[in-house]
Amino acid sequence: MLISSRLLLLLTTLIQVCLSLVITDSHVASSCIYFLRKRSWQCSTAMGGHMSSSTWMCQCMNIEWLGSITNCIHDYANSTEELNHAYSHIVKRCNLRASTDYDVSEMKMYQANASSYLEDSELFPKGTNVTAPLSIRPSIFKTWYTTFRDYNYFVSMCQRLGWGCVGFWIGVLGLPGIYHYFGHRFVSFEQKQKFNKFFINKYDRVFLGFNRLEALICFVFFVVVLLMCAVNYNLELNAYLYNSWFLTIDCLSFRTDIIAFSLMPVFYLMGIRNNPFQYFGWMTHSTMIKFHKFIAIIFFVLALIHSVIWTDYANTTDGGGYAIWAKDAYFYWGIIGTTVIGLMLGLSIECVRNLWYEMFLVLHKSFAILFIAAMWMHCKTLEFLKMGLSTM
Ligand SMILES: *[C@@H]1O[C@H](CO)[C@@H](O)[C@H](O)[C@H]1NC(C)=O
Ligand SMILES: *[C@@H]1O[C@H](CO)[C@@H](O)[C@H](O)[C@H]1NC(C)=O
Ligand SMILES: *[C@@H]1O[C@H](CO)[C@@H](O)[C@H](O)[C@H]1NC(C)=O
Repeated sequence: MLISSRLLLLLTTLIQVCLSLVITDSHVASSCIYFLRKRSWQCSTAMGGHMSSSTWMCQCMNIEWLGSITNCIHDYANSTEELNHAYSHIVKRCNLRASTDYDVSEMKMYQANASSYLEDSELFPKGTNVTAPLSIRPSIFKTWYTTFRDYNYFVSMCQRLGWGCVGFWIGVLGLPGIYHYFGHRFVSFEQKQKFNKFFINKYDRVFLGFNRLEALICFVFFVVVLLMCAVNYNLELNAYLYNSWFLTIDCLSFRTDIIAFSLMPVFYLMGIRNNPFQYFGWMTHSTMIKFHKFIAIIFFVLALIHSVIWTDYANTTDGGGYAIWAKDAYFYWGIIGTTVIGLMLGLSIECVRNLWYEMFLVLHKSFAILFIAAMWMHCKTLEFLKMGLSTM
């Protein structure tokens, strides 16, 4: 119990941190960043993807970029709170990805200095190096601002859908509990017997060792996840998601990874022998292990979709090439994570597992820990960790 409660704590922290990812992003800062990214900042290295260190390195060291970004934030943040949030967004990104050592007061200094050198952003069209701090006209900036407001809204909706998937399992565990305490009084003995005969004690060959009730629950869960991944793609083409291919993969990727992350505590806990769910009192360990496997498979498929999308995107010309992405820690930790979870599933196939069961247990447990570590690094280097912790 001690181990599982520690694990629970670790997991909840991890989930909390990872899910607070883009939610803690400042709309204003993001809109300014991406607007300015359409300009050139005298970088000699190729620009990588939007997370790439080389991209940040080039901008965070450039005085004109610092002047432009702080001026943009200063112009468009509506409140002091929003202003400081947006400045600290920049400070965190630069310090983490470009190894600078800025703080918010320096951002204010850059802004104050830049205000006497401002030039209109349209004087530096795409392809020319910017040589002065930019001021951005409201009419031009508006589309960028609404882009990131809607985008952040989309991401927080994905998170709510992820919670919905967790809610499904809380229901699966909770409803029978309610039945055991009160509900059974309203069900006759014959009805109970019929139910047991048809659902509980019935093992159909096609369901791989699941009884009918378990198979039904898994099927409904599968449908729920499918729906959660499919509904409500209401983002339209915008300043950041500028073509329908990128829009689709970006939204789908957010959807699948956030839902996958939300499922982590559920199937981790179900895999542990003395887990808190057992205090609900009705579900046997063997049933939980079946659900554990099923959810893990769904998790793997979601993670795989996420991985395939970004691997593919990295290779496009927009992405800037695989090599630039692969240099970043979050990228290879992501690859390690997907590989580990794939290996775990492969080793869990019955005939493989039974070859040497003790070895399977040792490997399974080590990989489980390695996977959490990999996800931790994956999120940490995506800035989420720092941002999440600072808001907790
Ligand atoms: C912008 O600056 C970089 C670095 O000084 C240089 O390599 C590049 O050719 C410049 N681009 C243009 C369009 O002047
Ligand atoms: C003030 O801004 C101008 C224009 O960006 C820049 O050339 C100059 O170095 C800045 N001065 C300081 C002290 O940051
Ligand atoms: C600032 O507040 C106004 C009025 O509430 C709102 O219309 C606008 O979208 C907000 N943000 C920006 C960047 O203008």
